Amino acid sequence: MNINMNPNSELNQSIVKVPNLVSVPDPLINQAYQFQEAMMMYTCAIREVKTKLEVLNDELSVRNSRNPIELVKSRVKKPVSIVEKLTRRDLPVSLESMMENLDDVAGIRVICSFLDDIYAVADMLARQDDVHIIAIKDYIRQPKSNGYRSYHMIVEIPVFFSDQKKWMRVEVQIRTMAMDFWASLDHQLKYKKEMQVYSQEISEELRECADVIALTDQKMLNIRKRIEEQGITVTK
Ligand code: GTP
Ligand code: MG
Repeated sequence: MNINMNPNSELNQSIVKVPNLVSVPDPLINQAYQFQEAMMMYTCAIREVKTKLEVLNDELSVRNSRNPIELVKSRVKKPVSIVEKLTRRDLPVSLESMMENLDDVAGIRVICSFLDDIYAVADMLARQDDVHIIAIKDYIRQPKSNGYRSYHMIVEIPVFFSDQKKWMRVEVQIRTMAMDFWASLDHQLKYKKEMQVYSQEISEELRECADVIALTDQKMLNIRKRIEEQGITVTK
């Protein structure tokens, strides 16, 4: 990013000879290295948050005899998506701008079993004193108009490198398996046709599917609670 590709530019007057490869301008290598280093930092931040989530899952599963977290997925945003998002937001396309302005370069998706597990996991993560909450969007209590549901947190955590402590931002999306099913298919449908705007009929049907799914999530939670209540009665 922010790499000057003009063959006549000053940048290209300083050339590094890489054995068996074409000549590569020095600043290009330098910027590529800095970008690689930033991506490494985001990868480390993901690892730190994932470890926290694993610890929470272990603790909650011992306490409640079941796993609140089904699956944790993660990704570092691809360079092309970083450039696309900065450009879309009219922001400078540079490494500094990326680190300052983008909250979702490091992304984690936590797939929970039940609706209340989402809030249990989110609360426990938020209560850790080395986790700074930058922003929260509760698309479960307030779903998006298309029916999308998920709990989004932007968190900042310290990552310790050999010569510095760096606060890194990570986007954590927490949702049930059912919400993930809907969001994954919605994403596929959108991106298959390059972000097309759906017809009103299709939008409404997708929205209906999301509402049915939300109702099912609620029913499954109620069933679990009733079973737990029976369990308590039995053991007493
Ligand atoms: P982005 O520019 O998309 O990152 O949006 P934002 O910065 O306003 O954040 P928001 O919290 O609304 O959404 C962040 C992420 O949530 C997206 O990148 C998607 O992964 C997911 N998301 C949000 N809305 C939808 C949706 O309608 N459908 C699906 N499938 N995913 C969504
Ligand atoms: Mg995003």
